[in-house]
Amino acid sequence: MIVSVIGAGTMGNGIAHVFAQHGFTVNLIDVSAAQLEKAIATIGKNLDRQVSKAAITEEIKNNTLANITTHTGFEGIGNSGLVVEAATENTELKLNIFKQIDAVAPAGCILATNTSSISITKIASVTGRPESVIGMHFMNPVPVMKLVEIINGYATDKKVTETIVALSKQLNKVPCVVNDYPGFIANRILMPMINEAIYSLYEGVAGLEEIDTVMKLGMAHPMGPLQLADFIGLDVCHAILKVLHDGFGNPKYAPCPLLTNMVTAKKLGVKSGEGFYVHTPGSKELTVSPAFIK
Ligand code: CAA
Repeated sequence: MIVSVIGAGTMGNGIAHVFAQHGFTVNLIDVSAAQLEKAIATIGKNLDRQVSKAAITEEIKNNTLANITTHTGFEGIGNSGLVVEAATENTELKLNIFKQIDAVAPAGCILATNTSSISITKIASVTGRPESVIGMHFMNPVPVMKLVEIINGYATDKKVTETIVALSKQLNKVPCVVNDYPGFIANRILMPMINEAIYSLYEGVAGLEEIDTVMKLGMAHPMGPLQLADFIGLDVCHAILKVLHDGFGNPKYAPCPLLTNMVTAKKLGVKSGEGFYVHTPGSKELTVSPAFIK
């Protein structure tokens, strides 16, 4: 099956990586040729890491890279059996992309979105095939995380869900099927935890490192919630909390004012070099941002 992945950012390159590694022919599509070049370099680096850990062979690495072709337009979609959209988390942008891919994708092609919180039913409503639209929510880093959260829109056909479940298993992932309500399951539970950690810092209940250490060592989370927020992107966390707040109308989901301030100040976490921590490319060391040094 030919799979077209739209968007060559962190999630898009990870999704292209896992499909290509498992033998699928992949069209990786992005409007920016520079972003595509960067994505292929990242996939190569992540494959090298897998080779050095003996998780895959050099041959699998080469086959994976050979399975991916890059495009700055939608021309490859005409032959695809599946499109996975992983563009920026912006409703208008995604609706626009789905209108365009619906016009060029062949009959029977499944249109999936990697959205972390935008309504699948809303995205499906701008296409002429709402029964073939579904959420396929991968977790970052895609080559490592086992979960695929599969989200049924209001009109998603059962056969489409079954196909996406089977495809996820082919990628050696564990699929979980959920329904289309704000935040689905992953972010409905994760984001209030992150927001509560930010509130705890904002209200001075504990320092930044104490909050992360409690959750890392007390609950065996691989990253504390503030480090994880930096890793996800504070703008993404803020946007998802707004979806929860708007969708449920419950004040408990309102983003913490500290989070709002940090996003306004463009302290977005790993992607901007600073959030709760200062992040140096290539270094795993965690340094608390000067704003939070007691
Ligand atoms: N590609 C391939 N392999 C990778 C990789 C990548 N991009 N990144 C890490 N790895 C591999 C490493 O090679 C290593 O493999 P081994 O265990 O075989 O040695 C393993 O992953 C662990 O990596 P590291 O030793 O470099 O670092 P770590 O132990 O600190 O783990 C981590 C890194 C996997 C990211 C871990 O910290 C973690 O699980 N963090 C939480 C991640 C998380 O919660 N993700 C979900 C975010 S929410 C989301 O994505 C969805 C949303 O809607 C917001």
